[in-house]
Amino acid sequence: MSSTTEVKIYKSQKKVLKALAKAFYKFTLSSNQSHFHVALSGGSTPIGFFDRLAGKYAQKIEWERLHFWWCDERCVPPDDEESNYKLACDHLFSKIDIPECNIHRIRGEELPEEEAKDYAKRISKMLNHRGAYPVFDIVLLGVGEDGHTASIFPGQLELFEEDKICSATRHPLTGQSRITLTGRVINNASMIVLLVTGAKKARRIAEIMNNDEAAKLLPAYYIAPENGVLVWFIDEEAGAKMK
Ligand code: 6PG
Repeated sequence: MSSTTEVKIYKSQKKVLKALAKAFYKFTLSSNQSHFHVALSGGSTPIGFFDRLAGKYAQKIEWERLHFWWCDERCVPPDDEESNYKLACDHLFSKIDIPECNIHRIRGEELPEEEAKDYAKRISKMLNHRGAYPVFDIVLLGVGEDGHTASIFPGQLELFEEDKICSATRHPLTGQSRITLTGRVINNASMIVLLVTGAKKARRIAEIMNNDEAAKLLPAYYIAPENGVLVWFIDEEAGAKMK
């Protein structure tokens, strides 16, 4: 684990999501930056976080200051049930007052290689850079049961070495095309949040936190912001096997 790592453990998933929404709100208050660039993930865990933002914080957050991007997208149209963009729309954007031009989706309906290049250009144009790579203010990631994060799966660790901003990739089991930010861009963020809940994730979390040999095969093990902070938001079930 990098030296700037913080691990926050809560009793239940509900408490994790509440705490994350509060931390997110406070983060937006803590800086006078005119714009924040936030990269979201898909999967089921962030749903409660989106719901909380769309509820308690809908009127409190200055949404026009926030720009939303994605860490990864499934290559499906934006109205497909599998779309990470649709998930965030259904649970957050459709319920808050945010300018449409602040939402920067990955176009899953386009040719993956082409869209990866185009999305990278859009990111490059709008974000500040540190070294050769753009800097997201917050990157929100999950961890899959196989140890993947964003759409970087086991067996694709080269995506941490790659010098592109985005890459087209594939889910190794389903073969579904994906587009993902690469490891260098993720690790260039100012803050990375790893949101992980549930007993099914306990083994992977323990491998990563305990620095087990097995963790070296897991993409999530390589999440380590070079100049930023890494904060784990986990529940007791996910943290149950940690030493
Ligand atoms: C995706 C993701 C992915 C996700 C993890 C965790 O589009 O599938 O962005 O990396 O964050 O698979 O997903 P759950 O929250 O569903 O466990």
